[in-house]
Amino acid sequence: MKTARHDEFMQYRLPDTALWTPGPHALTPAVERTIRAYRATYSHRSNDFKSLYSQTVALLREAFHVPAAFTPLIFGHTGSYGWEMVAVNTPPAFRALGLEMGAFSARWAEVFARHERAVDVLRVPWGHGIESHSWHTALRRGYDVALLTHNETATGVMLPVDALCRDARRLAPDMLVAVDGVSIAGAVDLDMGSMRPDYYLWSLQKDFAIPAVGSVMIVSNRALETAESVAKRGYVLDLVEWHARGAGAQTPVTVSDLMLRCLVARLEEMLDEGDARFARHRNLARMQRDWAEKHGLDLLAQPAFYSPTVTTIMMPDSIPATEFIHEAKNLLNVQIAPGYGPMQDTAIRIAAMGSTSESEMERFLAGLSLIFRNWTANPPVTGRFAGVSPAKT
Ligand SMILES: Cc1ncc(COP(=O)(O)O)c(C=O)c1O
Repeated sequence: MKTARHDEFMQYRLPDTALWTPGPHALTPAVERTIRAYRATYSHRSNDFKSLYSQTVALLREAFHVPAAFTPLIFGHTGSYGWEMVAVNTPPAFRALGLEMGAFSARWAEVFARHERAVDVLRVPWGHGIESHSWHTALRRGYDVALLTHNETATGVMLPVDALCRDARRLAPDMLVAVDGVSIAGAVDLDMGSMRPDYYLWSLQKDFAIPAVGSVMIVSNRALETAESVAKRGYVLDLVEWHARGAGAQTPVTVSDLMLRCLVARLEEMLDEGDARFARHRNLARMQRDWAEKHGLDLLAQPAFYSPTVTTIMMPDSIPATEFIHEAKNLLNVQIAPGYGPMQDTAIRIAAMGSTSESEMERFLAGLSLIFRNWTANPPVTGRFAGVSPAKT
């Protein structure tokens, strides 16, 4: 039986299930159209593939302002392999500086340690970023490569990588800078010409809103020269091999033409939206933070490091995050994520990625407020959402 409460909830329910976890993420219209229209019509050694590859690289150069001394490489593996590539393509004697400001930054440093590399880790509590004074102090200690995480997905913390790269060039000009932009690339204005990181890598299932089928890494000539000096690079993760094949619009291993078509569609969609998309991401994240404030909830991230793609909101003791997320999916048709790891039951994470609009986010957050108010007003477990049956609509 439908009730007035049911109708109240249903006005906020999105018509199609929206995956708003910080990756994988709901596809954008352009990506979805590409996948629906796909037919396998040529091999990865054909001229059609080569022109598709070249088109993708040209669009990456345009969208990320990539100068000639840097090369975008496109892989059929995800971002974690990119972490490993940086390790494999730097000399074993290199001293590395890693970060630990959440689970992902910590794991990259761990990857280096597993390769038996000397790695020092700059640690901050979850929710904090890297302050310039500790970065400067670390740089003065002298490292050969630094591993920066542009956006820590576990916490929703964004680092000012522009400034960090600039400082690195000034204080440690010989040090290579590797940046993990997995959960932010595409959502902020990135100018490789001014940042000049030696490696900037990201996965496609985040702001690019493509299924988890690949990743991109933009590498500097300096990174490639360093790779050439490494004796044992293996094959599938060898940057020199990927670069050489890429020069002929080819790849060492089979890379999906569907992935390239999705990348082209998404990059064209991004370029069509232009700089407006950067403002949209900032607005979406601001709306999420305002929602938290309105309900008296804390944010995990410190204000200086708010992310435009991931917001982590701490839940009150009375609301287990996993149950709250379950109700959001059930009633509003939106899948958001729990807090990462140890925060699974105490926090929620909402993405501001892909092509999500401000009006969709507004509608969802209004529905989330209704769930929140019902939760705090009604006795736990039974009867909280009685009379609301979205499954039957
Ligand atoms: C910041 C960050 N780096 C690296 C990864 C690993 O990427 P993938 O799962 O695409 O291998 C993730 C995954 O969520 C991430 O958020």
